[in-house]
Amino acid sequence: MALLSGVLLVIFCNIVLSRTILSDDPIFGQPEQIHLSYGLDPTLMVVTWVTLNEINDSVVEYGQIDMFDKRATGNVSIFQDNGTEQRREYIHRVVLYDLIPGQKYFYHCGSDDYGWSPLFWFTAMRNDSNFTVRMAIYGDMGKDNAQSMARLQEETELGHFDLILHVGDMAYDMNDDNARFGDQYMNSIESIAAYIPYMTCPGNHENAYNFSQYVAKFSMPSSFNTYGGDSNHFYSFNVGPVHVVSFSTEFYYYLQYGFEQIGNQYKWLEEDLKNANRPENRAKQPWIITMGHRPMYCSNNNDDECLFTDGYIFVRIGLPFIQEYGLETLFAQYGVDVEFWAHEHSYERLWPVYNETVRNGTEGAYIDPDAPVHIVTGSAGCGERHDPFGVPRPWTAFQNNDYGYTRMNVHNTTHLYLEQVSDDQHGKVVDSMWLIKSKHGPYSYF
Ligand SMILES: *[C@@H]1O[C@H](CO)[C@@H](O)[C@H](O)[C@H]1NC(C)=O
Ligand SMILES: *[C@@H]1O[C@H](CO)[C@@H](O)[C@H](O)[C@H]1NC(C)=O
Ligand SMILES: *[C@@H]1O[C@H](CO)[C@@H](O)[C@H](O)[C@H]1NC(C)=O
Ligand SMILES: *[C@@H]1O[C@H](CO)[C@@H](O)[C@H](O)[C@H]1NC(C)=O
Ligand SMILES: *[C@@H]1O[C@H](CO)[C@@H](O)[C@H](O)[C@H]1NC(C)=O
Ligand SMILES: *[C@@H]1O[C@H](CO)[C@@H](O)[C@H](O)[C@H]1NC(C)=O
Ligand SMILES: *[C@@H]1O[C@H](CO)[C@@H](O)[C@H](O)[C@H]1NC(C)=O
Ligand SMILES: *[C@@H]1O[C@H](CO)[C@@H](O)[C@H](O)[C@H]1NC(C)=O
Ligand SMILES: *[C@@H]1O[C@H](CO)[C@@H](O)[C@H](O)[C@H]1NC(C)=O
Ligand SMILES: [Fe+2]
Repeated sequence: MALLSGVLLVIFCNIVLSRTILSDDPIFGQPEQIHLSYGLDPTLMVVTWVTLNEINDSVVEYGQIDMFDKRATGNVSIFQDNGTEQRREYIHRVVLYDLIPGQKYFYHCGSDDYGWSPLFWFTAMRNDSNFTVRMAIYGDMGKDNAQSMARLQEETELGHFDLILHVGDMAYDMNDDNARFGDQYMNSIESIAAYIPYMTCPGNHENAYNFSQYVAKFSMPSSFNTYGGDSNHFYSFNVGPVHVVSFSTEFYYYLQYGFEQIGNQYKWLEEDLKNANRPENRAKQPWIITMGHRPMYCSNNNDDECLFTDGYIFVRIGLPFIQEYGLETLFAQYGVDVEFWAHEHSYERLWPVYNETVRNGTEGAYIDPDAPVHIVTGSAGCGERHDPFGVPRPWTAFQNNDYGYTRMNVHNTTHLYLEQVSDDQHGKVVDSMWLIKSKHGPYSYF
């Protein structure tokens, strides 16, 4: 009897165990990797998610008080990974419409036949510019050692942020293990990105197979009236008093995917900045803020580009020999106020700088400075850990090597506040800056 029950126990355990292993596969057709991004205007919001099976319906039900009084449908597209398993995923994109700016909405996504996500909520973007925009900004967050993740999830769910800027490099790498790292990463940011728009730019860690997973999984707004696709590489949007410009520094380094992409992007950047500077536009969005992955300036001592060239010179000055497509001059010419970078796994704040010359304001470095302010914020946490600092450069204002992220509040036309949160020190603010501008526009040397 004892023997028999022992045998039964073993059989039972085997069944339980194999069930446990099987349950790693999601139930057929369940939505996962749910995230938001801004639409082309404040009445729109985009929901993107993945199913691992071929589900043909993409539906979002949403509403305010009478829950789910609205229903939007969208498109599914196939993401084909180029790893050995050639895995396929189904990317669902739905644009929510008729949103009342500034109002809170509840939603779930999925399909009538195969299941719905949990209930999430978001606040539609306000359609004026008279409010404080609150962002969290960071780059270089991996699937492993994502040290800032819990704090970001907590602060997002507490309603501290309107949006995220992820300045490139995610999952480390999305394509690893036949794209399962990407799946796991996107699932782990769901508790941030299903509540507030998660706006991105590509980093070098997204380069595999021509950035295909990055392009497939996000849905950034583009000037072509579409979402996702090619335009995830560069795009812009307005939120409150801010015009945000996102672009790829990686075009300069992965020429094998198409040299012409650098020129196309440069032309687009110039047009976009010109348009943002039209008086009627700059009056509404006086702050122009850029995000790109590889920094123009850095002072880390384990990176040749920081040690010997003071930053990524292709991006700053232009490609060698032809000396074209450098962005430092373009950005200063159009009066970019703040430039966010990452790639170095640390936090560095710079004095206002142009062409390796510090150009402080007259009544304080950051009061009407005569150059853009650069912030390098790549310390969210990843498997590659820290990038140590070297000797501060003349434009270095502050270096910090804790894991953490940047918070930024743009208060109004004149006042922008930024601070660095240390996760190592349990959320302590280790650096802060007020940038005060009585006017915005091209700097004095143009
Ligand atoms: C979706 O459509 C394809 C092509 O028509 C079909 O093969 C597949 O079975 C459909 N999926 C579901 C879950 O109905
Ligand atoms: C879905 O496809 C239709 C037709 O091609 C297009 O008009 C619509 O904008 C697409 N929706 C999304 C969310 O991309
Ligand atoms: C902003 O949205 C409100 C509510 O929908 C609308 O009444 C108002 O006209 C909008 N304002 C602008 C500038 O679009
Ligand atoms: C902007 O908001 C503040 C505070 O809510 C208010 O006092 C002020 O009148 C508003 N300004 C405009 C132009 O609406
Ligand atoms: C996909 O993989 C094949 C085989 O390894 C390779 O030849 C091809 O260049 C890859 N495509 C991309 C876009 O990397
Ligand atoms: C890489 O992808 C871009 C679109 O994102 C495309 O324009 C380009 O031609 C692709 N390059 C190669 C070599 O496939
Ligand atoms: C930057 O400064 C150097 C001299 O230090 C000068 O030769 C160069 O022309 C300047 N570049 C720009 C774009 O102003
Ligand atoms: C810029 O201002 C900071 C802070 O006041 C100061 O430490 C630094 O020396 C100034 N640099 C220049 C070139 O004026
Ligand atoms: C802008 O915001 C700052 C900081 O909150 C505040 O001190 C200042 O009075 C505001 N300016 C206007 C015009 O509201
Ligand atoms: Fe990087």
